[in-house]
Amino acid sequence: MKEELQKIKLEISAAISQVKDSVTLEQLKIKYLGRKDGKLTNVLKNLKDLSLDQKKDIGKLANEIKVDINSILAEAKKRVEKNEANNTDYFDVTLPGKKYPLGHLHPLTQIRLEVEEIFKSMGFEIHEGNEYVSEYYNFESLNIPKDHPARDMQDTFFVKDHPNMVMRAHTSAMQVKIMEKRKPPLKVIVPGRCFRNEATDASHEHTFHQIEGFVVGKNISIGNLVWTQKKLLSAIFKKDVKVRLRPGYFPFVEPGFELDCSCLICSGKGCSVCKHRGWVELIPCGMINPKVFEYAGYKKGEYTGFAFGMGWSRLAMMKYGINDIRLFMSGDLKFLEQF
Ligand code: DAH
Repeated sequence: MKEELQKIKLEISAAISQVKDSVTLEQLKIKYLGRKDGKLTNVLKNLKDLSLDQKKDIGKLANEIKVDINSILAEAKKRVEKNEANNTDYFDVTLPGKKYPLGHLHPLTQIRLEVEEIFKSMGFEIHEGNEYVSEYYNFESLNIPKDHPARDMQDTFFVKDHPNMVMRAHTSAMQVKIMEKRKPPLKVIVPGRCFRNEATDASHEHTFHQIEGFVVGKNISIGNLVWTQKKLLSAIFKKDVKVRLRPGYFPFVEPGFELDCSCLICSGKGCSVCKHRGWVELIPCGMINPKVFEYAGYKKGEYTGFAFGMGWSRLAMMKYGINDIRLFMSGDLKFLEQF
């Protein structure tokens, strides 16, 4: 019986030294010392059948072992609880991981990067420009004097207490600002956010995106203008896009055009985006008015050039088949997550 007791002691000590959490420790305690069926308890119960001498001898040993085991258990309890509190060694590798949603570039940014690459491949430089500009650059320098009715087309937000400053109504506001600092030849695009005092609908927003572009040099022609736009649109839509030029009026170009492309949402059959015309007005453009060169300080007759103001939001609508411009700035994740 003595041997049996020593064996149980060794077994318990070995088992306890392996324990890492308090739940398992409690289970072990019950297994060996439990009142009903604990292994050690059962051995002690048999003491009653022994002779008096044996009882004294073995009983003493049994008690010593019980005391030892209790102190081993108390030690283990301290160790396990400390571990669990620090929680450093304990890591349940079977727990399911946390999933963090991944973000991505806004569809307008995606299309801007694509457009920039195409223009860069044609040798254009990219300027950022300011959203808050003087009335002079937004209007006067583009041949839109005060009280000119063309200002109605670009009614924007004026800034309180700053009578000569506006939120730019178009990225064309960068034309003269860049030209007056630089000598041609110039090939520039200015992608940017613009603002208008506008009643909103599926194709108009008070805050929208445009890409202005202009080329200035010697003998620049309408042919260069059309070639550049076709090249751009075919590269974006990855097919040969049909375009057409219609006369259009903008004080800073002469002659001025509206360049339309066949609607890619309905393949020219007619839908709400193209207002059932089959064509989408995409790129207003023209040959830069000599008046603008005068504002830029260029010598009369020395240069010619073309300019265009592309509806960048509209381009994205065509490319991704989006039928409401207001979705871009809505912050609606259900919309944005589709790109
Ligand atoms: N800035 C004009 C607008 O927002 C668009 C425009 C028209 C830009 C003709 C141009 C241009 O460069 O040549 O309405």
